Amino acid sequence: MIIAIDGPAASGKGTLGKRLAHHYGYRHLDTGVIYRAVAKSLLDTGADLNDEARAVAAAMELDPEKFGDPVLKTQQVGEAASVVSAFPRVREALVDFQRHFAAGPPGAVLDGRDIGTVICPDADVKIFVIADPKVRARRRTLEAKARGEEADEALVLADILARDERDRNRATAPLKAAPDAHLLDNSHLDIEGGVRAAIDIIEAVRAGRQRA
Ligand code: C5P
Repeated sequence: MIIAIDGPAASGKGTLGKRLAHHYGYRHLDTGVIYRAVAKSLLDTGADLNDEARAVAAAMELDPEKFGDPVLKTQQVGEAASVVSAFPRVREALVDFQRHFAAGPPGAVLDGRDIGTVICPDADVKIFVIADPKVRARRRTLEAKARGEEADEALVLADILARDERDRNRATAPLKAAPDAHLLDNSHLDIEGGVRAAIDIIEAVRAGRQRA
C-alpha cells in the first residue's frame, strides 16, 4: 500500500507521515528533505540558488545518507528548498528515486507536495493536509526554538505565506490537492489528533475498497 500525504501542512517535523508509517509498519520518506538537501548543497558551495544547472547537478548527486542532517530542518534551508524545487529539471531528476522508494515492500508513506498528483498518482490513499497559516507559524516557531534557533513568529508567518504562494503557483507540480485526495484540516488538532484523523481516513478507504 502507498499512502500519499500532501499539502502545505503535510510535513511539519515529518511527524504525521512518520507516525503513520510506524503504525502500519511501512517505510517513510519525507520528500521535503530531498529538496532541502539539494538546496543545502548549493548553499554550502555558495552557488546562486537560481542556477538551475547547478541545482540539477546537486539533485543527481544526492546522498540519502545525509538526509538526517539537522541543518536541513532550518527555515533558511526550507526557504531555499522552495526556490530550487520550482525548477522542472530538478523535480524530474528526483522522480525515479521517489517512485522507487514508494514501490518497495511492505508499503510506504511519502509526504510532500506532489506525491498524490505527480509522483504516485495511483497511491492507495491520498491525504491533503491543511492548517491555518497562523497556527502553522506558531508551531514552526516553537519547533525552531526547541532546536535552539532564533525565531520570530511574524517573520515565520511571512515565510510560510511566501513559500505557499511560490509552491502553489509554480508551473511544474504545483501544490494542489489531487481530485481523489481526502482533506485533513489539523488547525485544531494536536499531533495525536492529526494521526488519529489520518488513520480514520485510511481505514475508511480500506473498508470501502473491501466492500467494493
Ligand atoms: O515540506 P518541507 O517544508 O520540508 O519542504 C520544503 C520545500 O520543498 C517546500 O516549500 C516545497 O517548495 C518543496 N517541496 C516540493 N515537493 C515536495 C516536497 C517539498 O516542492 N514533494
